[in-house]
Amino acid sequence: MFLNYRVTEKKIKEIITKNKSTTILQDVVDVLYESFEKYNWVGIYLVKGDVLVLGSWTGKQATEHIKISIGKGVCGSAARSGKIEVVADVSKDDRYLSCFRSTRSEIVVPITKERKVIGEIDIDSDVPAAFDKTDEKFLEKIADMLCQHI
Ligand code: SME
Repeated sequence: MFLNYRVTEKKIKEIITKNKSTTILQDVVDVLYESFEKYNWVGIYLVKGDVLVLGSWTGKQATEHIKISIGKGVCGSAARSGKIEVVADVSKDDRYLSCFRSTRSEIVVPITKERKVIGEIDIDSDVPAAFDKTDEKFLEKIADMLCQHI
């Protein structure tokens, strides 16, 4: 598992350093989705004024939540606080905006630049309590890599 995080981080570093095109965000969500079985939906939301707008995503289904107000849902909470949100059981979190019936847990990692939240990585899992400190640290690194490309 540890190897998988390292290999994925390396792949994403390559995408970001070598890819000058506009496909970076899509390529990154694709690699995250393909690399971990428990990452069942991976999206990147971008902050536009007081709204989060879905930029790129990969998963079996599209979400109806393509725009989320800052402060609303788990995504909007993370955007407002600038802190990572890990929800082990989405059915027990009142803030949770449901997208897929199969989702059991969720992680949202803000992407910050000069202390401002400019976007976030949002991952849904069909596995209960799928996300731990390793995921948090790993996704924080990916968010740091992405902040110059948003
Ligand atoms: N569940 C999120 C909404 C986005 S979907 O998971 C793709 C939330 O509560 O903000």
